[in-house]
Amino acid sequence: MNHPRTSRPHLRTVSITGVGSCVPDRVLSNADLERLVETSDEWITTRTGIRERRIAGDGQATSDLATEAARRALADAGVRAEDVDLIIVATVTPDMPFPSTACLVQHRLGATRAAAFDIEAACSGFVYALDIASHFVASHTYDVVLVIGAEKMSSVVDWTDRNTCVLFGDGAGAAVLQNRPSAHGLLTTCLGSDGGKASLLELPAGGSACPATAETVAARRHYLRMDGKETFKNAVNAMVTAANHALGRCGIGIERIQCIIPHQANQRILTAVAERLGARPEQVFSNVEKYGNTSAASVGIALDEAVKSGRIRRGDLVLLVVFGAGLTWGAAVIEW
Ligand code: UT7
Repeated sequence: MNHPRTSRPHLRTVSITGVGSCVPDRVLSNADLERLVETSDEWITTRTGIRERRIAGDGQATSDLATEAARRALADAGVRAEDVDLIIVATVTPDMPFPSTACLVQHRLGATRAAAFDIEAACSGFVYALDIASHFVASHTYDVVLVIGAEKMSSVVDWTDRNTCVLFGDGAGAAVLQNRPSAHGLLTTCLGSDGGKASLLELPAGGSACPATAETVAARRHYLRMDGKETFKNAVNAMVTAANHALGRCGIGIERIQCIIPHQANQRILTAVAERLGARPEQVFSNVEKYGNTSAASVGIALDEAVKSGRIRRGDLVLLVVFGAGLTWGAAVIEW
């Protein structure tokens, strides 16, 4: 097997040594949505595979979910918060524009030595953060990096728009990255973007281009908007391209991957990606029916569930593949 990271002697390998996740207790079922907008359980399940999603409680922010997921990941790795060197939070729903959600998490964890910053790559955020984090560990800059994907999508969903409100949910997933000399760990990551298609999925107001005013609020421009059909097509193409690129860089065929964890956007997207990659359905991990699309959190939550349930074991080859607003996409191949 070709291991690009280990072929450069001054770099060290990077492993995920702990995972954790946190979803809110409150469940919003398709039946509940039938009472909010003109939709049906039948439409939602056949078009998306989603049956329910978790919604944060009043006063529960992205940083609350992120902190809890991080605590669980640190416990899983057997690492103390004081030993964390860097915290990266991937989110499109930070607690506020600034300070960063990562700084709020750093304080609550008691990660007194850690630097902290947020990144924004929408639903691709977890793999983007993983890629960034891995370079700090590989280059000996830091020993322990905490990567968290966390979202409170319910705060930016337009609950009067049936095209989007049935799709999203809240949650957080976290991973601890360290060098584990006995493992190859992260074999490769690859990322991509296409800002030419930014308008397919956006939250138009509230930034410097269109600051918040009474008019922007009245026009509901602080909620996310999506061209679902175009986004769907782009998602499948980009995820297939990213996955093939990552696998090609490692010289690994799809048949050797024990667990594929795609961004949990829609079961039809997961199925289409698997078919186009030539993967068997049982290789693909899916929990979209329980949580819907949790954006940057989705791969982290799925990874945690796959590991804790024994679906991923030490030595397994794992493929993460993501797609999101931006447009952004990415893939990672990991020897667990
Ligand atoms: O996280 C990364 C980014 N997001 C995604 O990857 C999501 C990508 N897109 C999708 O998953 C799908 O496009 C959707 C699930 C959003 C929509 O599925 P679709 O098969 O593309 O449906 P559509 O948008 O073509 O809508 C079909 C019909 C429309 O009615 P008409 O115009 O044919 O009369 C919609 O108005 O379904 C209607 N519709 C609904 N009906 C009942 C749209 N949403 C709903 C709904 N309940 N919730």
